[in-house]
Amino acid sequence: MATDCDCAENIVLIGFMGAGKSTVGRLLAQKSGRYFLDADALIESEAGRRIDEIFKKEGEHAFREMERRCARWLAACVRGSVISTGGGMASVVEHLARIGTVVYLKLSWEEIERRLTPQERRKRPLFSDLKEAKRRFEQRRNLYETQARLIVDASRPPDEVVEEIIQNLPTVS
Ligand code: S3P
Repeated sequence: MATDCDCAENIVLIGFMGAGKSTVGRLLAQKSGRYFLDADALIESEAGRRIDEIFKKEGEHAFREMERRCARWLAACVRGSVISTGGGMASVVEHLARIGTVVYLKLSWEEIERRLTPQERRKRPLFSDLKEAKRRFEQRRNLYETQARLIVDASRPPDEVVEEIIQNLPTVS
């Protein structure tokens, strides 16, 4: 249970679309007495529009600006939380470590393709073109690794992924 004025450090989950950041994030928050925040949901709440609408009406560039702004807010104002980021945040925001301890949920391209059902793909404008999505995946891999303090194999069930994070980050639990 998160307590009043709990100022535990944040944990920031990064990784490509479909890596399970939100599922793992919710579970990790419960297990570590933190709140769960989803950066995409924060951006949507501030903009008053869904991510796919932002992409359609304002374009990717505007969305990336919103991500940068959200990251600044998280670094300045948020403590005691598990934060799941959109798959592109680690590539547009340098020094995510300013927000908290960064954990990379690593998954192969094949596994990502397998996990993202047609319904899940429809919610993600950048997954409509498979070739382009794969290109981004290749482009981001090193960035995820560079930003991460801990890299976990996200192909396992969410509770095992959470356990590994807790075991490897002594300050988390
Ligand atoms: C994006 C990933 C999405 C969302 C937006 C852009 C990306 O989040 O932020 O559609 O650039 O990889 P998820 O990783 O939660 O799908």
